[in-house]
Amino acid sequence: MIMNDYSDLIRFAIDKLHFSYAPYSRYHVAAALLAKDGRVFYGVNIENAAFSPTICAERTAVFKAVSEGVREFEAIAIVAGEGEYLEKCDFRPDTLPSYATPCGTCRQVMREFCDPKTFEVVLARSPEDYKVYKLEQILPDSFGPEFLI
Ligand code: THU
Repeated sequence: MIMNDYSDLIRFAIDKLHFSYAPYSRYHVAAALLAKDGRVFYGVNIENAAFSPTICAERTAVFKAVSEGVREFEAIAIVAGEGEYLEKCDFRPDTLPSYATPCGTCRQVMREFCDPKTFEVVLARSPEDYKVYKLEQILPDSFGPEFLI
């Protein structure tokens, strides 16, 4: 099986981790979304004092792309780490302690625009250490636009 090399996409995401605004959870997340036209859209989690307006990194990335007219995507790389750990290495980690994994709401938002059979979700600890899932593997029997349109 040929597996895509996602090391660059992961490196881009790690590079954006320091933009994450997470003063409440201190859990910083960054996502790099690769569009079919080759462009990369970044997102970070942005928390809020009222808690519920918080948005995840993955949705930030998707919404940034869609709001710029881009709706076709290949893959998303996601990285995350705790504030204390990231501050110690100045947000330049060699390896993150765990694989970030997208929440259910973000999986559903990806499902709106991405083909579940081909779109790849990359959960990374470093550019060399990552797991790749098809969207349908992490959101089986999913509900999507074709049910309505
Ligand atoms: N978070 C993400 O950015 N992506 C996910 O898929 C999981 C959770 C953020 C939201 C919140 O700012 C923090 O992580 C803790 O839940």
